[in-house]
Amino acid sequence: MKDDKPVKNEPQNEQRRSFLIGLTVAMGGFISMVLGGSGLFYFLSPAWRGKNEDWVSVGPIGSLKEGDPVKVDYVQRKKDGWQVLESPSSVWVVQQKGEWVAYDPHCTHLGCPYRWDSSKQAFLCPCHGGVFSKDGNVVSGPPPKPLVRYQTKIENGNLFILPGGQA
Ligand code: FES
Repeated sequence: MKDDKPVKNEPQNEQRRSFLIGLTVAMGGFISMVLGGSGLFYFLSPAWRGKNEDWVSVGPIGSLKEGDPVKVDYVQRKKDGWQVLESPSSVWVVQQKGEWVAYDPHCTHLGCPYRWDSSKQAFLCPCHGGVFSKDGNVVSGPPPKPLVRYQTKIENGNLFILPGGQA
């Protein structure tokens, strides 16, 4: 037997179905674009950042004593991709001829930490007897080269150093 029921509103149902499919595809595309764009920005953003973040403030110039070198402790924050690594470190700071000089705190022989001897006006390394002058040059002992200097700059009354960036 043949079904004689008339099909009502067939074109309207077809239109609604097409509209809903189009809307679903558009919303899916929009959500994918937002999530994908955010993810892409997250992964690429470290590559867009400048190198200026590696400068470290070691304090206001007014708090640093002129004359003998001063050892200053600081925390270095280094961005490694998406993480910020913090490592405590130190630097020797001294003013010479009106200019601030910063020395890496490790001896250039085998990397021992050295100290300043005010009575001898020299940096002394306890490991193998290396001696450096106030301007960082080798006076005696096995160190093969002068102390490593960091770049320095002054901004808003604060002394900044660039660890690892030799002057
Ligand atoms: S590590 Fe300083 S003299 Fe050897």
